[in-house]
Amino acid sequence: MSHTFNPLTVRHDFPIFRNHPDLIYFDNAATSQRPERVLREISDFDQKQSASVHRGLYELSSHATRRYEAVRDKVAALIGAENGSTIAFTKGTTESINIVANSFRKRLKPGDNIVISGMEHHANLIPWQMICKEMGASLRVIPVTKEGELSLDRLQTLMDHKTRLLAVTHVSNVLGTINPVDEIILEAHLKQVPILVDAAQSAGHLAIHVKKLGADFLAFSAHKMFGPFGTGVLYANPVWAPSLHPLNFGGGIIQHVDFDQTEFLEYPRNLEAGTANVSGVLGLGAAVDYIRTLDAESVIHHEHFLATVFKEKALQEGFIRVMGNPRRHAGIVAFNVNGVHPHDVASYLASRSIAVRAGHHCAEPLLQYMNEAASVRVSFSVYNTADELDRTIEALKEVKKFWA
Ligand SMILES: Cc1ncc(COP(=O)(O)O)c(C=O)c1O
Repeated sequence: MSHTFNPLTVRHDFPIFRNHPDLIYFDNAATSQRPERVLREISDFDQKQSASVHRGLYELSSHATRRYEAVRDKVAALIGAENGSTIAFTKGTTESINIVANSFRKRLKPGDNIVISGMEHHANLIPWQMICKEMGASLRVIPVTKEGELSLDRLQTLMDHKTRLLAVTHVSNVLGTINPVDEIILEAHLKQVPILVDAAQSAGHLAIHVKKLGADFLAFSAHKMFGPFGTGVLYANPVWAPSLHPLNFGGGIIQHVDFDQTEFLEYPRNLEAGTANVSGVLGLGAAVDYIRTLDAESVIHHEHFLATVFKEKALQEGFIRVMGNPRRHAGIVAFNVNGVHPHDVASYLASRSIAVRAGHHCAEPLLQYMNEAASVRVSFSVYNTADELDRTIEALKEVKKFWA
């Protein structure tokens, strides 16, 4: 049963805030905190039910297997996928994207191209750059406007009959821009181009419905949506799933092996070589359960509200420049304090127990578009409050007073 929420109540679900009562945690785009429910799931498994999956004939193992496999269905339901067999477990968004890029490498011929956007995280840029270089293909980039939006009028000319895939982020991890992936997917499909959506910053924040969207691949990480580190998801549409090949070879992914050849299991099991990350996957399942207790509309509304208020208050101060001004944005804002290096800003905020990120946020080309070498980033979640914003703005005024 989902409900609207009060961030102060939600905060009680997260033990980190009991252990650090003064902490203002504004680094949610890097990783979110984990609620008790997720921590308990992992610890219960380790203490009471720990066993490897898929291979054991004893009860602990078959129980673990059933629970591990059930998480595929939970994740599928969260993102509106066809069913659990469209969901592969990975180490995170980075690995999910690398699996797709590795599989598409074999489909590339010299002269082909891959289209990405100018606001991609390095995880959704470098894998494509590497395979393009290796195969003599080119990487084409949808430009970004000064407002921090994609120049979609360029999309039609960027895609042609040699475009093999389009990879785009749902939400920018720097500017918070919510890209119109539905429109982008429609355009890509008109040209028969498959599309990968990087949902690292949208899963758990925005309602996603892959089937309605028509995404061919979708990637995200558990640790950014209240789940554990080292666990991620790759969704593949049933039409494209058979085109994905293992990135890692080894045990757990085979039908039959002899010294001459190997017959692999089908997707998604063929992508999960080695002993499975069972506690991570169960933790992901608990994170999905947790997300479902929150009303998706209220989550994005709350995070959007915090970002809007932060921008307004920061701009009122006159010494802060905010990067971009996208019409649709999530709870992420990048900014700079005039005359102060972003690392100094972040260090000062840290001395006031305010955790933010400073640097290029693994999106160096985007910062070039925006004419900034680096920036400070605040990113919000369900447990953040308007009072925390005010305390941060006060700390930024002190930064300006002492530094500039
Ligand atoms: C938009 C985006 N894509 C991909 C990633 C990579 O995620 P991970 O490091 O969990 O693989 C991140 C991480 O910050 C991100 O923000």
